[in-house]
Amino acid sequence: MAKKKILITGVGGFIASNLADRLVRDGYQVVGIDNLSGGFLEQIPKEVEFHNIDIRSKDIAPLFKGADVVFHLAAKTCVPECQKAPYETADINVMGTLNVFDACRSAGVGRVIYVESSAIYEGSKTLPTPETEFAPQTFYAISKATDHLFAKAYQELFGMKMIGLRYFNVYGPRQDYRRAMPPLMSRFIIKLLMNEKPPVFGDGTDRRDYVHVDDVNDLHVLLIENDAAVGKELKVLNVGSGVSYSILEILALLQEILGTKIDPTFEPNIPGAAQATLADIREAQKLGWQPKASLKEGLKGMVEYIKAEIAKGNVTHSL
Ligand SMILES: NC(=O)c1ccc[n+]([C@@H]2O[C@H](COP(=O)([O-])OP(=O)(O)OC[C@H]3O[C@@H](n4cnc5c(N)ncnc54)[C@H](O)[C@@H]3O)[C@@H](O)[C@H]2O)c1
Repeated sequence: MAKKKILITGVGGFIASNLADRLVRDGYQVVGIDNLSGGFLEQIPKEVEFHNIDIRSKDIAPLFKGADVVFHLAAKTCVPECQKAPYETADINVMGTLNVFDACRSAGVGRVIYVESSAIYEGSKTLPTPETEFAPQTFYAISKATDHLFAKAYQELFGMKMIGLRYFNVYGPRQDYRRAMPPLMSRFIIKLLMNEKPPVFGDGTDRRDYVHVDDVNDLHVLLIENDAAVGKELKVLNVGSGVSYSILEILALLQEILGTKIDPTFEPNIPGAAQATLADIREAQKLGWQPKASLKEGLKGMVEYIKAEIAKGNVTHSL
């Protein structure tokens, strides 16, 4: 039987390019969309039929014809940048997403897997957090929460088969270290490799649920085929590891891996940052998914990736 045709939006980005690698390796036919506003052409496997196009363009619709499954990951992703630009955030993350949903609907796509975020829980105090919580506060989280409400309506009104994924902190090779505020692990690794003091925001006790991109892709692949994942109602799944680590624990592990002993600087915490995130992952586990990555091995992989980026001359700023 011919392998399924999968369309991925945001295919030049961190998670989607890792997904494209995995699907190509597994023999799927992959079509990718990205406007390369944040992603990189060099990250897209050459086997992917790539289209450099904005998800807000009406010209995306024909590209969805014949797709069995769509993974919609394209988004404006940097939370501090979204706080500065609410209109653009909504334009890309809400209007762009609706354009993708409409394209899926017109093309009769069998399964639409789109990405929300654990940021939807930023005003919730419940830990571990189940999918029933809903407390967006930042513009980024509000845009993702709006996508959730639209997806629910598309599923109910048009009978589309949709799955919303609430990723927690995804880490691994190709995490976007180039953005104005690089994610914690990339920031620490770059600073330590440059023999500079890593900046800790707050007192370092804030905790996050980190999930490795390979585990996330195990779930993605499972969702392509698993019929229990779709039903009459919109399925929403937390995608975390179900374990949390403090900022200082991550820093200590990285110092151990790199053999460094550099004291951090302590900076004022980012306003609105959650004290802790922790996913209740029982819904995804019911489908047979189990995150397997060891944090230490995952961090070693990221260190190797960033060393290679430095060697290529891609890490140009000292953050
Ligand atoms: N990385 C995480 O920890 C995390 C956590 C929660 C949710 N998410 C969500 O997962 C998805 C992927 O995240 P990522 O970390 O890989 O982000 P990323 O920034 O690396 O990738 C996003 C991609 O979308 C593309 N894009 C942006 N605007 C576009 C537009 N208008 N048209 C076409 N393409 C566009 C960018 O060029 C980029 O390649 C996003 O929806 C993000 O909100 C990520």
